[in-house]
Amino acid sequence: MPESIPTPVAPPPDILRCAYMELVVTDLAASRNFYVDVLGLVVTEEDAEAVYLRSIEEFIHHNLVLRQGPVAAVAAFSYRVRSPQELDRAVAFYTELGCEVRRAPEGFTRGIGDSVRVVDPLGFPYEFFYDVEHVERLAWRYDLHTPGALVRLDHFNQVTPDVPRAVRFMEDLGFRVTEDIQDAEGTTYAAWLRRKPTVHDTAMTGGDGPRMHHVAFATHEKHNIIAICDKLGALRLSDRIERGPGRHGVSNAFYLYLRDPDGHRVEIYTQDYWTGDPDNPVVTWDVHDNQRRDWWGNPVVPSWYTEASLVLDLDGVPQPVVARTDTSEMAVTIGADGFSYTRPEDDADALPSWKQGEYKLGHQL
Ligand SMILES: [Fe+2]
Repeated sequence: MPESIPTPVAPPPDILRCAYMELVVTDLAASRNFYVDVLGLVVTEEDAEAVYLRSIEEFIHHNLVLRQGPVAAVAAFSYRVRSPQELDRAVAFYTELGCEVRRAPEGFTRGIGDSVRVVDPLGFPYEFFYDVEHVERLAWRYDLHTPGALVRLDHFNQVTPDVPRAVRFMEDLGFRVTEDIQDAEGTTYAAWLRRKPTVHDTAMTGGDGPRMHHVAFATHEKHNIIAICDKLGALRLSDRIERGPGRHGVSNAFYLYLRDPDGHRVEIYTQDYWTGDPDNPVVTWDVHDNQRRDWWGNPVVPSWYTEASLVLDLDGVPQPVVARTDTSEMAVTIGADGFSYTRPEDDADALPSWKQGEYKLGHQL
C-alpha cells in the first residue's frame, strides 16, 4: 500500500471546472469523423496534426483536442482556474509535493495562454490555465444544433488503484466528494468529486491505473441521447455503443457510453443535480446494490470495468500502470463469487431466475 500523499503547506489553486481533455489518437481522420461528423462537436481550429473541438454552449477555444500520435492515450486533463494568479499557486502546490511541473507562458495548445502542466502524485497529467481565446458561443445558433447536440463538457473519470488515497489528495486540491460506492467492509470502489456545482468534475474509479476511464459531454435532455443512439444505428455504427442508454443510480444522470476509433471511452450524460451548497449531502451506495450504476438494474458489461486509456507523462511517454490490490467492483458484483440485490432485505439468491444470469459472467447471450 503506497503511503498517503502529504497535504502541502502551499494552498491549492482555485479551480473553476474541468475545461478540456487532450487526447492522442492514432488516426486523426477517423477520430475527426467520429467526434465531428457523428457526435457533432464543433471545430474551432484544425491542422494536419490536431483538431480543436468545442461543445455548442462553450465560449472558450476548445473542450477536446485530438492530436495525432503513435499511442492512443491522454496527454492532459485540463482545468480552468479562477484567475491568472492561481497558476503561481499551482506551481507552488505541486512543487512542494515533488511533482514534475512545467509552465508554458504561451500555452501548451492553441487558443490557451499561460498554462501549468504537472504529473500529479497519482500519476495523471493535469493542466491548469486561465487565459484563453474566446470564441462564439453557439447556444442561440439553433440552425446549427443537431438532435444529439453536445452542449457542455461535463466531467472526466480517472482509474486509480487506491480510491481513498486519491480522494484525500483531491480534497487537498479543493475538491468535494458528492457520492461514492463502498461495501460493509470499508472498501471504496469509486468516488465522485466536484468543483463546479454539479455531481462532478472528475471521478475516481478503482482499478489498475493511472488510466483514463472516460470523458463526458452533456446534452440538454434525455431525448438527445436517444437521438445519438438512433443516428449510430442508422450509420451502422451501433458497435460504438458500449453500455446504455440508461439512468444512473449514482449522479441520477441519464447516460450512454461510447468507444471512439481508438477505444477511448466517451460518455454522453444529462440531468444530474445541483451540489453547490456547502452542506450538500454525500450519497454513499452499497457496491452490492444493483441499481447503483444503472437505476433500472441493467448489467454493466465487463469491458466497462476492465478497459481504459493510458495516460502520458509530460514528455509524451505512457505512464506505467499499477495494479489495484483492493477487491474489484466487478468481482464482488458480477464475478463467480459476486452478488447483487435489488432490495437489500432480500437473500442474495432472491433475484428471479431470468434476472440472475445477467449478473454472472458468461450468462449473457
Ligand atoms: Fe461519467
